[in-house]
Amino acid sequence: MTVGLPEAAGRPGYPADRHPVICGVGGYVPPDVVTNADLVARLDTSDEWIRTRTGIAARHFVGPGTATSDLAVEAGLRALKSADDSQVDAVVLATTTPDHPCPATGPSVAARLGLGGVPAFDVSAVCTGFLYGLATAGGLIASGAAARVLLIAADAFTTIVNPGDRSTAVIFADGAGAVVLRAGRADEPGAVGPIVLGSDGDQREMITVPAGGSRTRSTDEQPAHGDQYFQMAGRAIFRQAVERMTESSQQALAAAGWQLADVDRLASHQANARILAAVAERLDIDPERQLSNIERVGNTGAASIPLLLAQSAESGDLRPGQRVLLTAFGGGLTWGAATLTWPDLGPHPTPDAR
Ligand code: UT7
Repeated sequence: MTVGLPEAAGRPGYPADRHPVICGVGGYVPPDVVTNADLVARLDTSDEWIRTRTGIAARHFVGPGTATSDLAVEAGLRALKSADDSQVDAVVLATTTPDHPCPATGPSVAARLGLGGVPAFDVSAVCTGFLYGLATAGGLIASGAAARVLLIAADAFTTIVNPGDRSTAVIFADGAGAVVLRAGRADEPGAVGPIVLGSDGDQREMITVPAGGSRTRSTDEQPAHGDQYFQMAGRAIFRQAVERMTESSQQALAAAGWQLADVDRLASHQANARILAAVAERLDIDPERQLSNIERVGNTGAASIPLLLAQSAESGDLRPGQRVLLTAFGGGLTWGAATLTWPDLGPHPTPDAR
């Protein structure tokens, strides 16, 4: 599915003055840094294996008592501060690690941000959550239901990863990223282009937390050992991630009417440095055009893309007017890609994305 095409004769789409336009960005990672050496001390792994197989050197973990909403509030605050106006009409939170199974975490984040009684809800699409959230927020704007939306993507992945499972514990980490979207025109800096989204629920077991949902709670049986933890068929997921991110990127470029040469920056979900390199190579995008922070933050789930955008804008790797291709892949299975031009956030400084 492609959402966000301009309205045209016989085809529904975004009205000319109601395209989602990014006007604020913020990122946050919790202060505790965990290096590969820290993991080597408690897992059967090595710094060399982690670096060469994943590209990760360090990552941030939440401490005891810190939850996803705490990360989301920090990123949301930074995004609102960098925007021209801190009022929004709705809050969309993309997460796989809500504070509780019930209720959703979005309303609590909106309340803590002092946003009054605006509608707030969660979107669950694992590592593709930011792109699903972007389509959802864009839809609220295009329909006229909201003129401004705060989209936050936050995950405290270490709260569901098995700390003793070396195949996931070395990759996944915690963080949050957020953007403020406003209604604008498709040709403005900050405008989000067409968003390509897909899913394949037949492969839902390739990335899963087997226990804890209604499937297990409807019986009296205790979950099998380890079923409360995140589980991933890493090697098979690797292959699919490369294929789906490449294919959806090509579809998003075609929908936007962009050529590969038009892409100034590729901002892929930071799943694994080898996946990022393979996608860039298949798309024929040279490494200089690829944004990456995986070495410092690992795989932060839904937060990955907006955290990357915030940190890259802060470092100057991402500049106003640059044309950006986004792509992600995650559990569900889900995948997607989108285009945007990076906005000039003007006199409002890009806040410290840590
Ligand atoms: O975020 C969106 C969804 N997630 C992803 O996109 C992640 C996709 N998958 C991956 O990034 C990679 O598959 C992993 C990083 C998870 C694993 O890397 P791999 O190169 O695919 O390794 P593998 O699973 O094929 O395992 C190779 C070997 C195995 O040993 P044997 O069977 O060959 O003796 C593993 O047991 O590496 C072993 N291994 C490790 N060794 C040291 C797995 N994890 C580790 C580790 N340290 N941390």
